Amino acid sequence: MARITGRTVLIVGASSGIGADVARLLAHDGNRLVVTARRAPELAALAKEIRASGGDCLDVAADALEPQAAADVVAAAVAEYGGVDIALLNAGQGPDMSMDQVTVADVSRIMALNYDVVVNYLVPLIAQMGGQRDGGLIAHTNSLAGLMGIPRQGPYSAAKAAARTLIDAARIELAPNGIRFTSIHPGFVATERISEDGLPKPFQISQEQAARHVVRALEREPAQAYFPWPTAALVRTLRALPTPLSAFVLRRLAAR
Ligand SMILES: NC(=O)c1ccc[n+]([C@@H]2O[C@H](COP(=O)([O-])OP(=O)(O)OC[C@H]3O[C@@H](n4cnc5c(N)ncnc54)[C@H](OP(=O)(O)O)[C@@H]3O)[C@@H](O)[C@H]2O)c1
Repeated sequence: MARITGRTVLIVGASSGIGADVARLLAHDGNRLVVTARRAPELAALAKEIRASGGDCLDVAADALEPQAAADVVAAAVAEYGGVDIALLNAGQGPDMSMDQVTVADVSRIMALNYDVVVNYLVPLIAQMGGQRDGGLIAHTNSLAGLMGIPRQGPYSAAKAAARTLIDAARIELAPNGIRFTSIHPGFVATERISEDGLPKPFQISQEQAARHVVRALEREPAQAYFPWPTAALVRTLRALPTPLSAFVLRRLAAR
């Protein structure tokens, strides 16, 4: 495991939650950070905090739903620091959403918020890293909910599963170009935004713990990283069970 030092790290979705804490953890050791999200004041405050503690940080407010805006962020990182060594695609959102209440527009919105935001960065990053001498690492904050259809999180599960599949294909295709891919699958994390969504959250961990897991994954670069282990073991078990049995357990969990 190599500690991350002297790298240019782009974090998409860094204005709050896991992404902001990953930025704080990587803010030293000669790393150069590029942080982006839509909320400019939160980003600016984070960048100021990092600079005040001696770190190097560029903040660029941009909406990852817009392909050109995402390409412009990658270009801004390259203009400022000469390249991107590591990108963490962390933007995403999974609200409580029952399938008998959603609209078609809701499902499309969740797909865009969790899949399009990945694609919009993936394409310019692949172009950029493919031309870099040492390639680069593209990591995505997926979810354990992306490994199976979780009740009340169906559209989110589906969008995260799509992102994982796309990244799995890219990993195989682009290994010869020196571009590595890591999909990171957290369980429930106690971030501000999900604190009152009403969903049951077994084995929930803190935002800081999640950020440390993410940094470890960026250091080790596994194809897939899963945490915390109790939730990962639960999901693995549910996937191995006969469908009626796993459906029974999931229905009970979702009703809690
Ligand atoms: N919390 C959990 O339990 C949990 C569990 C598994 C996986 N995850 C995943 O972890 C990632 C981080 O989530 P979090 O829990 O830390 O929540 P969060 O605090 O809401 O973080 C989401 C980040 O994404 C940014 N973002 C959202 N839409 C964006 C857009 N269109 N363009 C640019 N940035 C955008 C948000 O900033 P702006 O609003 O300022 O744009 C924010 O910085 C997400 O992908 C989520 O699916 C979370």
